[in-house]
Amino acid sequence: MSRSDRPKLPPVRIVRIAEAVRAGIANLNRRLVPAPVGVLEMATGFASAQALFTAARLGVADALADGPLSPSDIAARIGTDPDATARLLRYLASFSVFGPLPDGRYELTSMSEALRTDSPTSVRPLLTMLGHPSYWAAWGQLEYSMQSGAPSIDKLHGRPLFEHLQKDVEFGAVFNAGMTCVAEMNTPPILSAYDFTKFATIVDVGGGQGSLLASILRDSPDSRGVLFELESVARDARPVIDEAGVADRCSIEVGSFFESVPTGADLYLLMHIVHDWNDEKALEILQNVRASIEPGGTLLVIEDVIPEGNRPHAGKMLDLDMLLFVGGKERTAAEYRDLLGRAGFRLTRIVPTVAPACLVEAVPA
Ligand SMILES: C[S@@+](CC[C@H](N)C(=O)[O-])C[C@H]1O[C@@H](n2cnc3c(N)ncnc32)[C@H](O)[C@@H]1O
Repeated sequence: MSRSDRPKLPPVRIVRIAEAVRAGIANLNRRLVPAPVGVLEMATGFASAQALFTAARLGVADALADGPLSPSDIAARIGTDPDATARLLRYLASFSVFGPLPDGRYELTSMSEALRTDSPTSVRPLLTMLGHPSYWAAWGQLEYSMQSGAPSIDKLHGRPLFEHLQKDVEFGAVFNAGMTCVAEMNTPPILSAYDFTKFATIVDVGGGQGSLLASILRDSPDSRGVLFELESVARDARPVIDEAGVADRCSIEVGSFFESVPTGADLYLLMHIVHDWNDEKALEILQNVRASIEPGGTLLVIEDVIPEGNRPHAGKMLDLDMLLFVGGKERTAAEYRDLLGRAGFRLTRIVPTVAPACLVEAVPA
């Protein structure tokens, strides 16, 4: 997507006001019912989540792409039981995920577009990851992590997540596609919040399948890029980079950021990397970046910075996710300032985006 055909985003300030209004309404909604009702509504959120994941995985929205269908016609297309399909549709339609018609058929809504495979607003790969049995199993062991402070993934599989993903090829592919979906959602907000064109060489450390770096390079025609990743993930990056038309300016380097990162760049990106690790391991990564960065270079740590106070924020759920999967954590601005300082960087500013993710900018101290 080039600069001109990127979706026009509202100003960050307007988005934050809209979020505050929605949070206030949600809070009021909970206070309008007796406590057990509010609690049970929250507790049964697992059912709407699983219904959504199942509909996405089975391709219900894809079946409706050419127009409205009856539940039995949908069932015939996706190979499911007609009665069970009708009940799933009725439940999800009550959340506006599908639109019921007076003749009993269902049509797509703006929400169901997000479940489709080929829609520009699709989050299907992310729903597939969140609904994966391995994902549910990890959340099912939250109590273990509460008691031990350790990732439940270690208990379930006997090895850390990124080692496990190299062995469990099926979940590994689902996880990497989910991460690419998150990166694609974050890309327009990041590109509109920050000028990347001034950098000659950009290293994306742990850059996944290369989605963010490819988009940055497409927007910054004079920049070169290096994607640095584990071998098992890097091998899927080439098609993403080729498809973006930036292959002549982007190389892929395989390695571990606990050993070293490529040298000589003036911008280092770490998106959703620091939050994967506890302070000790995060410090090792940041110190390796510090050892490689040019004296006038810039580091961008892209993460959900937890706001002070008690306002709802996506990072608060992600923080528990980090505990369960990797033993990492989401951090506040003060925690980033401190961590970066200990790694030899000075935090210069935190650039908000319309997404939950912020760009924490730092320079060598
Ligand atoms: C949460 S994902 C984020 C990926 C990408 N930056 C994004 O935001 O979409 C973390 C990434 O770190 C990579 N990773 C984990 N351990 C690594 C290591 N020791 N060296 C390099 N990359 C690693 C994983 O393969 C994975 O792609």
